[in-house]
Amino acid sequence: PPSRNLAEHLLAWYDRHHRELPWRVSPAAAKAGKRADPYHIWLSEVMLQQTTVQAVKPYFAKFLTLWPTVGELAAGPVEDVMAAWAGLGYYARARNLKKCADAVATLHGGVFPDTEDGLRSLPGIGDYTSAAVAAIAFNRQAAVMDGNVERVISRLYAIDSPLPGSKPTMKAKVALLTPADRPGDFAQAMMDLGATICTPKRPACALCPLREDCLAFAEHDPERFPVKAKK
Ligand code: ADE
Repeated sequence: PPSRNLAEHLLAWYDRHHRELPWRVSPAAAKAGKRADPYHIWLSEVMLQQTTVQAVKPYFAKFLTLWPTVGELAAGPVEDVMAAWAGLGYYARARNLKKCADAVATLHGGVFPDTEDGLRSLPGIGDYTSAAVAAIAFNRQAAVMDGNVERVISRLYAIDSPLPGSKPTMKAKVALLTPADRPGDFAQAMMDLGATICTPKRPACALCPLREDCLAFAEHDPERFPVKAKK
């Protein structure tokens, strides 16, 4: 069964081919113990939930200029946050962003909790964001699942049962694959692989570090996955 070896292949690929993103710490720096700022990771992950990396970049920069810390974001009026968010869409995210900043400031002294459960206790932070921040900012062994990761996992294991019912099965597989030493890089590597190689249409299997482990590749029809429930 794919496991340790698979994470090693993926991380070796990520070391060479990771995307450089404004909120991201390079894998070399991460190996040397450098951690991303939890505020930066939280802010970028909330922005990325329904928005592309390219669209998020200028907004991420603007927010850090206006509010360099989560404490300053909490101190700012919600109207200013909504105005700065204008154009990103899904405005409930901006309201929840502000509520979460307020909770970090008032309940946690301006310091983000450093565990998945602690993060999930904050307003507006669900399973995805708590796992992503715990893994990426705090190097916790959290299983991070988004649409990209679902596609990669469903293809690796040729999962025939449809989404969304198959989510718990997929999450369990991600948890088993996530290595204890580099959970944050592993999560980011899965997302980069899904975004750049294991794409919905015409995936670039020839370039994929997991090709030899991939059941969908062996079946010659990766685009069949993920299977989705009929509406
Ligand atoms: N999409 C959402 N979050 C991401 C991340 N941390 N790395 C790459 N793509 C992402």
